[in-house]
Amino acid sequence: MDRKKFYITTPIYYPSDKLHIGHSYTTVAADTIARYKRLKGYDVMFLTGTDEHGQKIQRKAEAKGVSPRQYVDEIVSGIKELWKLMKITNDKFIRTTDSFHEEAVQKIFKKLYDQGDIYKSKYEGWYCTPCESFWTETQIVDGKCPDCGRSVELTQEESYFFRLSKYRDRLIRHIEENPDFIQPESRRNEMINNFLKPGLEDLCVSRTTFSWGVPVSFDEKHVVYVWIDALSNYVTALGYMSEDDSDYKKYWPADVHLVGKEIVRFHTIIWPAMLMALGEPLPKQVFGHGWLLLEGGKMSKSKGNVVDPVILINKYGLDAIRYFLLREIPFGADGVFSNEALINRINSDLANDLGNLLSRTVAMIARYFGGVIPGSEGRDESDRNFTDLVLEAPGKVEELLDKLQFSSALTEVWKVVSRANKYIDETMPWELAKDESRRPRLGAVLYNLAEALRIISILLQPFMPETPPKIWQQLGIEEGPATAWDSAKTWGICPPGAKVQRGEALFPRIDLQKEMAELEAMASQKGEEKAGAEKGKEGKDLKAAGADGSEAAGYISIEDFARVDLRVAKVIDAQKVEGTDKLLKLTLELGSETRQVVSGIANRYTPRELIGKHLVLVANLKPVRIKGIESQGMILAAGDDEVLALVTLDRDTAAGTKVR
Ligand code: MSP
Repeated sequence: MDRKKFYITTPIYYPSDKLHIGHSYTTVAADTIARYKRLKGYDVMFLTGTDEHGQKIQRKAEAKGVSPRQYVDEIVSGIKELWKLMKITNDKFIRTTDSFHEEAVQKIFKKLYDQGDIYKSKYEGWYCTPCESFWTETQIVDGKCPDCGRSVELTQEESYFFRLSKYRDRLIRHIEENPDFIQPESRRNEMINNFLKPGLEDLCVSRTTFSWGVPVSFDEKHVVYVWIDALSNYVTALGYMSEDDSDYKKYWPADVHLVGKEIVRFHTIIWPAMLMALGEPLPKQVFGHGWLLLEGGKMSKSKGNVVDPVILINKYGLDAIRYFLLREIPFGADGVFSNEALINRINSDLANDLGNLLSRTVAMIARYFGGVIPGSEGRDESDRNFTDLVLEAPGKVEELLDKLQFSSALTEVWKVVSRANKYIDETMPWELAKDESRRPRLGAVLYNLAEALRIISILLQPFMPETPPKIWQQLGIEEGPATAWDSAKTWGICPPGAKVQRGEALFPRIDLQKEMAELEAMASQKGEEKAGAEKGKEGKDLKAAGADGSEAAGYISIEDFARVDLRVAKVIDAQKVEGTDKLLKLTLELGSETRQVVSGIANRYTPRELIGKHLVLVANLKPVRIKGIESQGMILAAGDDEVLALVTLDRDTAAGTKVR
């Protein structure tokens, strides 16, 4: 019989040389589902990869004096290494620089052009030659460039456009008729109300200002817009538009695209419209998860926290990190990452609850039964309450994993862990052991504990690749029928007579204070190394700058100033905050990261004119809540009580660039 298929994807990652723990969030979640579906017998296709084209990459490569290809190759191999370390079980890894992908993107573009869904037109705007920037009518200020204040000229540039507007009504209908298409529900409402209902404009899908991209096959001075290139990966990876499209026929449409919330818009508007135009089925679901944030702000510039996934995995083990990512934050919501929260979770849930349950059970079987799992003849009615609860868990875990509710699914497993620990306290095996006539009862109690651990270990497999085999080894269970996913639904499969083996603690307890001091030292050393490298670049002894009594004169030292993390931030969305006149909620892109900032500039700026602007953000300002909305930083503006003008850049600068 043909097995049921399941196709799951992560977004393809921008090549970033500073991968932090937040980057692994989508991938760990997708891996958990892929593992779960395989355990359930599905024929799974799990895709991830890298998104390597675009002006940003071209510029970074230029700055390093290497070719874009050289630049991305090195980083991509680092990303692949990380996934290996995290035991990510992707079936394919696509790079947008793979030639089969580039060829397929060209064919997709050409097909859409031939059928009239892509057309050539003029992109008209006000051009500032020194800034090499186009501005719209509303963006220019008194006929001048809003960035540099110099004169602008009305210019036209040829571009290709995708008829996105044509698909608006069909998109709305599809989203409304398929409530599962965009999840969680809040993101569906956001797409309909904020993006689709106000109207869609055709999308400019080619660029001539840089060359690092897929050339338009019939007009080579244009390269394909990166999002058209990137989104296509989900089908090109399966051979779409190639000679062998058997995987495409087998696995498409995707069951779920897992994406961070900032890119839901691309996946639920542009991508389905492209597929509609191509006459292909739409993915069944796009799930937009929340972000892992740091208390002090962004992940990539951690303050006092170690966020390097490699360091964290080497210190605490892969399963502890995966457990934390999946347990700490309900999937869909934002959450804060801190080393302290991580260590607390390891100590309480993993070392105390799970680790102790296993070590106590194995130790008691060793002590009272010579290390051989006893039979369960001595079971009695009072065990029902315990065994029933254990047997309810597999169904609940499945139901929750089917809805991508990782944290709740783990909570269900931990209900069993806690109940089992309580069962030890209730039955007091050490008391039973004192009375020879109660030996069968003691045997049944220990059997029940071993059996509960068998079921727990099976349920942990999708989340934790390393811990279940360690549990089996200690319980003396062979991997096979007694560890199969469905066997968790049946009580009594753990084989009496198996020989337990005492092993190392699954998760050694961590001394929180000592560890925090060590982590802080590591984090500040890293910070100093970085600052040292930056100082080195300048060739100046900056340390000397503040050592001359200048602070007393009301000056701040260059080190003081360096504590302010200023970044170029591109406005990708702006909305009025309801119930206020002054406030706008801005969504800002900072390279590989997105921020939300509430800003009192509505008296001076309309949301429309802000979109696309490059501003300067204080990126390490402590987040605050304004009108119930979290504001993660502050944009710089001129004016005292009243904002007069925003600080922008005098030439095109990649979002995320440091401002000093
Ligand atoms: N290249 C695009 C995706 C194109 S898909 C056709 C992109 N890349 S990314 O590298 O910026 O992000 C990849 C994934 O990592 C996204 O799902 C993003 O949300 C996720 N995360 C990056 N930082 C994150 C956190 N701090 N927290 C949670 N997820 C985060 O977007």
